[in-house]
Amino acid sequence: MHAGTAKDYRKLARRRLPRMVFDYIDGGAFDELTLSRNETDLAAVQLRQRVLIDCKDLKLSTRLLGQDLAMPVILAPVGMAGMYARRGEVQAARAAQGAGVPFCLSTVSVCSIEEVAAAVTAQPWFQLYMIKDRGRLAELLARAQTVAAPPLVFTVDMAVPGLRYRDARSGFAGDPSLARSLTRMMDGAAHPGWVWDLFVHGRPHSFGNLKGVETRGPGQERGLGAYWNWIRENFDPSATWKDLDWLRQHWKGPIILKGVLDPDDAEMAAQAGADGLIVSNHGGRQLDGVSSAIAALPAVAERVGGRMTVLMDGGIRSGLDILKARALGADACLIGRAWAWALAAEGERGVARLLKTLRQELTVAMALSGCRDIAQADRDLIAS
Ligand code: FNR
Repeated sequence: MHAGTAKDYRKLARRRLPRMVFDYIDGGAFDELTLSRNETDLAAVQLRQRVLIDCKDLKLSTRLLGQDLAMPVILAPVGMAGMYARRGEVQAARAAQGAGVPFCLSTVSVCSIEEVAAAVTAQPWFQLYMIKDRGRLAELLARAQTVAAPPLVFTVDMAVPGLRYRDARSGFAGDPSLARSLTRMMDGAAHPGWVWDLFVHGRPHSFGNLKGVETRGPGQERGLGAYWNWIRENFDPSATWKDLDWLRQHWKGPIILKGVLDPDDAEMAAQAGADGLIVSNHGGRQLDGVSSAIAALPAVAERVGGRMTVLMDGGIRSGLDILKARALGADACLIGRAWAWALAAEGERGVARLLKTLRQELTVAMALSGCRDIAQADRDLIAS
């Protein structure tokens, strides 16, 4: 028995997944300081308790970039979700649709944008990493443009991948070796439910958006190795603000920059014509030691809030966190690990239940803090 919270799903995912897959989701960069700050700084924000305010009819829905959301939540792009549960991205997109919130598909997903779009009526958002081969990038954008929702999430905080030591220690990343192969095989063998789900029902395991790069299971050396090698070889560390112009020519809808923490970068994003940004440190997976997303949010929202959509992610684990993020300047927030854990634990049903729990938590938090309309949430809700 569990209550369907993000924390419950983390525990369940830990049991269900091979250690290397769990650690890949759960872990952060270097000493994981920013990863833990994302959560502890959110926990430290204190809401005001307000009483005798009619809270019979609360409004949780919001409008974002021309789209109606049942609550201000988006499923963040999470790579390789099809390795957490069979056709994982499809399952999560269905759950998001059921809850009335957008699902954003990662460039490095197992299911392709076409597979996900065909499984739902609510168009998925698409997330883009800048890859060197602009021809290939243009092709990918053209594919996405035909089936995805108008907003494009362009991730800018991964010029190079962060160093994630948990992946090296678990055997998930690193050069091929016999010891690593054996570790992966034993890790998989100890989790037969996952093996059955993924390898009997969940194939093919490749990067659906990037044909030709395969992700295989534990024990097969081209597993994560292929993923990291591909990233190392193909991500473009020389991308600059100028590339936004290139992107504009290849994408018709709004462009949201994901991974801005600094108000000066936010200003540049506004001047470069971005339609929105996501205050984010990639869930503590990139530059360790930088501030938490919630601590960075107010200054960014203050600088560019009136001019562009401001979203936030990093450490959101409950409806209380969603209200705090809204109060501190985010138009909506994204959840990453929370949905990945729920998917790993219980598939589509798990993600649907998690979203229901977040909604209940947000409702209760709004009622007890006297916030009747989520669109009106502001600093006044914060105690200090
Ligand atoms: C991510 N994130 C991410 N971001 C992105 O733009 N493209 C991607 O492919 C991925 N992949 C990915 C995999 C995993 C396992 C995680 C945990 C995260 C970052 C993600 O979109 C988001 O910024 C963070 O997950 C937010 O932090 P929380 O909610 O996980 O604390």
